[in-house]
Amino acid sequence: MKVLSGIQPTGRFHWGNYFGAIRQYIALQGNEQSFYFIADYHALTTIDRPETVKAVNEEAFTPAKLAEYTQDAALDLLALSLDPEQATLFRQSDVPEVTELTWLLMTVTQMHLLEKCHAYKDKKDRGIPADAGLFTYPVLMAADILAYDSDVVPVGRDQVQHIEVTRDIAQRFNRIFDSDVFVLPESRVLDQTAKVPGLDGQKMSKSYGNTIPVFDTPKRLRKTIMKITTDSTPVEEPKDPEACSVFTLYKLFADEEQQAALAARYREGGMGYGEAKQTLYEAAIEHFGAAFERREQLAADLDSVEDILRAGAEKARAKASEVLERARTACGLKRQPVSTIR
Ligand code: ADP
Ligand code: TRP
Repeated sequence: MKVLSGIQPTGRFHWGNYFGAIRQYIALQGNEQSFYFIADYHALTTIDRPETVKAVNEEAFTPAKLAEYTQDAALDLLALSLDPEQATLFRQSDVPEVTELTWLLMTVTQMHLLEKCHAYKDKKDRGIPADAGLFTYPVLMAADILAYDSDVVPVGRDQVQHIEVTRDIAQRFNRIFDSDVFVLPESRVLDQTAKVPGLDGQKMSKSYGNTIPVFDTPKRLRKTIMKITTDSTPVEEPKDPEACSVFTLYKLFADEEQQAALAARYREGGMGYGEAKQTLYEAAIEHFGAAFERREQLAADLDSVEDILRAGAEKARAKASEVLERARTACGLKRQPVSTIR
């Protein structure tokens, strides 16, 4: 199985990113091929534009932030047990072959496919001007996937549409150029964590300002967890665990027995939401405690992190150039050695 996924470096990772995406990367490492990259080319489409309306509480996203967040993403992933011995971790922009492949794919991508893709459509519906980069974002994503012959792409549910588009593009290319250059990928979504709720019960997302960061001081983490919205059922009354975000989040950390125990406490009454939140906090510390320590060690040795990214890029480039060559040949393009081009 050849696994690939990418994640944008647009800020520190939150529980939604971890349970919806990163945890799957880690579970799938050690396969025949496990490639994970930090999607900095994609993140360029979100760098602040003068005309873009910013969400409340969001800091300006600048080129300096892009570099900082890319490094943060690498640290976070490695601290969360992405193991460079078992998986290849790299920066998307260290593999320029994907941009060349993007063009080849663009020539066979039907406009209507891109017009219905949600990143572009959402902006358009809200009356925000979009750049061609945002519009063609799914084609770059298709190139990311197809460049490595990936067959399984672990992602959150919101990315499934993009994998479908990738399949369409790959099929059309193979058909038009009468070839089987591209492998058709499949998305893999974990159902129970397909939509991690945020502090306000809506989907956890940076754009809604309702996130719980994976890496924070225990004190701040506790404070954040205490902010999760709950209803006003008095302490003594029974409560419905299934209607409560605290319980939904707890389920992500707990085994069945632990889940049943907390659910029983909800149903019997006498437990306030503060206590449920404390239980959630303790479960989170137990789950992430070792990662907090690993991240500190990695942050003190940034050169090694850079070495991991460089070695990853080298491996990724070797594979991407092989696939790109196949695609160029199928299109009738010949590659001349630079010295012979006049
Ligand atoms: P955000 O919505 O905060 O901007 P991204 O769009 O950068 O997050 O998401 C990165 C990855 O994490 C994607 O694969 C996405 O599907 C997954 N993801 C993000 N938020 C959630 C969530 N609340 N539940 C499940 N998966 C999520
Ligand atoms: N678009 C994805 C996201 O926002 C990130 C991404 C870029 C990606 N290229 C990819 C994910 C290729 C999977 C495969 O989350």
